[in-house]
Amino acid sequence: MALLIKNGEIVTADSRYVADIYCQSETITAIGKNLTAPPDAEVIDAAGKLVFPGFIDPHTHIYLPFMGTYAKDTYETATIAALCGGTTTLIDFVIPNPDEEPLSAIQTWGSKSEGQACMDFTWHMAITSWDSRVESQLREIVKSGVASFKVFLAYKGALDIGDYGLYHAMTLAKELGVITTAHCENADVVLELQKKLISEGKTGPEWHEPSRPAYVEAEGTRHIAFMSEVTGGHVYVVHLSNEQALSQAIAARQRGVNIWVETLIQYLMLDKSYAERPDFEGAKYVMSPPLRDKANQEVLWNGLRSGLISTLATDHAPFDTTQKRMGIDDFTKIPNGIPSLEDRVRLAYTYGVLPGKLDIHRFVDACSTQAAKIFGMFPRKGTIAVGSDADIVVYDPSHEEVLSAATQHMNLDYNGFEGTPVKGRCAAVTVRGELQVKDGQFVGIKGHGRFIKREPTH
Ligand code: URP
Ligand code: ZN
Ligand code: ZN
Repeated sequence: MALLIKNGEIVTADSRYVADIYCQSETITAIGKNLTAPPDAEVIDAAGKLVFPGFIDPHTHIYLPFMGTYAKDTYETATIAALCGGTTTLIDFVIPNPDEEPLSAIQTWGSKSEGQACMDFTWHMAITSWDSRVESQLREIVKSGVASFKVFLAYKGALDIGDYGLYHAMTLAKELGVITTAHCENADVVLELQKKLISEGKTGPEWHEPSRPAYVEAEGTRHIAFMSEVTGGHVYVVHLSNEQALSQAIAARQRGVNIWVETLIQYLMLDKSYAERPDFEGAKYVMSPPLRDKANQEVLWNGLRSGLISTLATDHAPFDTTQKRMGIDDFTKIPNGIPSLEDRVRLAYTYGVLPGKLDIHRFVDACSTQAAKIFGMFPRKGTIAVGSDADIVVYDPSHEEVLSAATQHMNLDYNGFEGTPVKGRCAAVTVRGELQVKDGQFVGIKGHGRFIKREPTH
């Protein structure tokens, strides 16, 4: 069916104007004043509202076997939550066990997402071991449309790839023209610090940050930049949390390294004092890299504003309070993750755009356009233009709400931002022209989401 969005204030990464948007067969086909539509078209009155390109979250974990348990969302619950918060495309990570073949993991993620996703999605392919079989399967996987890799420099004995695998993975990435995303923390140093703290009886969630200090992440960032220089492969540092690590990325960029940086809404809004909350409450705030000293927040906002940090993501990894209790006697066993898939856009708008920390165009750029460009989906996704997919967010900036687990759509018994007021709500969200959300609630077609095949672009 045709869709007409009338009189909204369209805001993209580089433009702002009032116009109508007409969509047919999943695509934006016209933008202009006083557009008309056939009688059976869906018409949305967007007067007084902001109209953004659908937001893109380039870092989520929906199906995630991790630290002896599984993340709580399904592709259905997660994509409904994401859509209600204005995110219309996400990039999830396919993560094989180190002893599992990459193609087998692709099949698993396929079976978990098949017919479940309510919005479009694609994958980063994690490389957790290296041999000739892994290499030949990765070639096949890239050909099938998964055009980005993921490496973990962290999680010793679990997902950590080690330098032998890292060198070969990035050499292959360079040959195939795919970008390598990287979790940058020195796995060996983290393990030693964890052992030391536990042996001293320091077992609570407040010791998670001291076990992974900022320098551990700065070293990981320096390391991936070095590997990029050695192999020529392009790299994207996921979930960067602190000033020291950012300095390493900036220094590398100044040397000409092809390095991009992502930060998370958690690092902008929360700090390490949350993980120090008594009665094991702090466990809700355990993620890696950890929440940092508050002083880092200004540095990250500035990095985001200036474009030194390209993207703002969530690293959505939902583990409920029962799962968090797996680490009641040992913080190293607390499943890592602070979910925020549903809340990212409204938090960034409220605490970034409204107080002037983030220009509204950079907000769109960081939460949508950059991810589309870096990961080979632009201009199909990430903008409002004739020919782009009709993924559109009509945002009511006057609405006021307080974030809470009681009202969220994420499949979880807590919200890390509980009690935080936000300005704005998604009055309408469309995915390829289909109205999926109305007034903050899912009203659409379950299973409407499609896997996005991507070509190598690096
Ligand atoms: O704490 C986190 N970040 N959990 C998810 C796994 C990862 O490292 O991205
Ligand atoms: Zn990570
Ligand atoms: Zn992650």
